[in-house]
Amino acid sequence: MSAETFQKVDEMKAAIEAEQPANLDELEQFRIKYLGSKNIIKGLFGEIRNIPNEQKKEYGQRVNAVKEAAETKYAALKNELETQAEEAAAQDMDLTAPGEPLDLGSRHPIAVTMNRIIRIFERIGFIVADDREIEDDWHNFTAMNTPEDHPARDMQDTFYLQGSMEMLLRTHTSSVQARVMKNAQPPIRIIAPGRVYRNETVSARSHCQFHQVEGLYVDEGVSFADLKQTLLYFAREMFGPDAKIRLRPSYFPFTEPSAEMDVYLGTETEKDYRLTKGTGWLEILGCGMVDPAVLDNCGIDSNKYTGFAFGMGIERQALRLYDIGDIRLFFENDVRFLKQFASTI
Ligand code: PHE
Repeated sequence: MSAETFQKVDEMKAAIEAEQPANLDELEQFRIKYLGSKNIIKGLFGEIRNIPNEQKKEYGQRVNAVKEAAETKYAALKNELETQAEEAAAQDMDLTAPGEPLDLGSRHPIAVTMNRIIRIFERIGFIVADDREIEDDWHNFTAMNTPEDHPARDMQDTFYLQGSMEMLLRTHTSSVQARVMKNAQPPIRIIAPGRVYRNETVSARSHCQFHQVEGLYVDEGVSFADLKQTLLYFAREMFGPDAKIRLRPSYFPFTEPSAEMDVYLGTETEKDYRLTKGTGWLEILGCGMVDPAVLDNCGIDSNKYTGFAFGMGIERQALRLYDIGDIRLFFENDVRFLKQFASTI
């Protein structure tokens, strides 16, 4: 009985040695037969209960040797047959065929718009100040003279970090004003581009994340006339030499007086009509003279220095620049959308 079983082991070993898989498909059949989860070597292991105790050890070793023989043969053939398959594929390759075209990357339209704005202000001496998007309450609100009970601080409008009333996603780039003024004395002339967040319903015209470029100029004798002239210069560089602007009185806790600026686009084209809601005027920024309380909060002597500040939205300007109808497209990163800007740097 046990001699017969031993013989089966020898036969299996011989069978494995005789196998000649000639390609990868046949090799896979070999693997399933001898090494797969339902392989036939398992049957030999099962026979061990019929082997007398004193022979069990030897029997086990022999069956293991069969399994190893199958494994070794499989590994060697796999290597050999794969190399063969690769060589065959290479023979079929047409080396004169043209290469696959490389897709060129491109800048995002928001980045292009933002860079354009940065260049315009750099030409008149502003330098870029880059700072964090996760801010504390002090820099985003308190330093900016925003009272404790101001509606902007509401959970409805501001994204606070989970379990914190102290840390938040900045709601405007004005927080960088505080960062800069805490660390430097006038003359200060910076722009701060970046992303901001507000808890707003997402639609074609507004989003819970968007981009701003902040501007801040603090020195002795800075006046509202300086602000107005700087913004007019910007509008002409950005929208063409005939650009018209208007300033409307407004309110911000951190500027006094405050204004909002519109640029005149006209209503000639349908997109301008739509973008300006039929008025021809596109609102692009808030601005004003830095409130003396803000200077004092940040360690700058408000008796000696004055300043102006502005914060402009980027998305609207980019919609105009690229004739895009829906703000959500900027954040979806659909390659079909982004590809259209591949030629712009
Ligand atoms: N922070 C204001 C906003 O987000 C814009 C602003 C900046 C207004 C600087 C005045 C001065 O709407």
